[in-house]
Amino acid sequence: MKTGRNDPCWCGSHKKYKVCHLAFDEKLERMKKDGILVPPHKIIKNPEQIEGIREAGKLNTAVLDLVAEHIKEGMNTEEINLLVHEYTIKHGGIPAPFHYKGFPKSVCTSINDEVCHGIPDKNRILQNGDIINVDVTTILNGYYADASRMFCIGEVSEEAKKLVDVTKECLDAGLAAVKAWGYLGDVGEAVNTLAKQNGYAVVEEIGGHGVGLAFHEEPYVCHVGKKDTGMLLVPGMVFTIEPMINAGKRQVYQDEDNGWTIYTEDGSLSAQWEYTVAITENGVEVLTR
Ligand code: MF3
Ligand code: CO
Ligand code: CO
Repeated sequence: MKTGRNDPCWCGSHKKYKVCHLAFDEKLERMKKDGILVPPHKIIKNPEQIEGIREAGKLNTAVLDLVAEHIKEGMNTEEINLLVHEYTIKHGGIPAPFHYKGFPKSVCTSINDEVCHGIPDKNRILQNGDIINVDVTTILNGYYADASRMFCIGEVSEEAKKLVDVTKECLDAGLAAVKAWGYLGDVGEAVNTLAKQNGYAVVEEIGGHGVGLAFHEEPYVCHVGKKDTGMLLVPGMVFTIEPMINAGKRQVYQDEDNGWTIYTEDGSLSAQWEYTVAITENGVEVLTR
């Protein structure tokens, strides 16, 4: 069904279509005819929704700041889970991982050769020299924000420190490649180029995702790509960039017992950082910083 010029816009802005997304739709229609992969309406957020995700992002950042304050050698990863769970609930949020597709805890904690989706465990004690990713996703008033950081425990090796730092630079390179009317492949190319320059490998089978009204939405954000290919990036899109970078080979496997944790196949170290990013009429905004 086509929206009438004077009907309310499909985006939920309560504005008339003709002053909201009419010109946008016409532009996308033309681009689609030229063979460009254009985003579906259902992943385009209105300003009110982006504000909701921004608020979820603020709480998510506060949770990560709390983890940063407390994380230390000798602590077990279940203690991190409790910190995240209790702080989130106390501030009116819900930790999105909790019972998500059967995930048993409220945060992911992935250490050393664990690439992502590590499960907090009271018997897993942080050791001097460990590198750990803490991945927090918060639901606030129905809106989702998703971000992760790396932490170095005690004195870590120079190789580990470099991997952690370069992976953050890969995230920032991916972010710098995001622009309205650019392409998703720009992000993957930027991330992969920098990782390769440093002798690292980018995980391909797991990546970023649309986020905001649900935990995982379209599009899939691959951290390997080719400039000017893939989905068109437009105002109203919100998605994560979350490169997983391995010091060794790119191949990974999943834990058969817990069904969640992903490891590097060669046992090499892996690092990851994540932001939730919005494209608005005013530019590109990190909602989790
Ligand atoms: N936060 C992760 C991401 O960045 C997803 C974790 S799913 C969970 O996409 F179930 F393991 F929490
Ligand atoms: Co995450
Ligand atoms: Co994510």
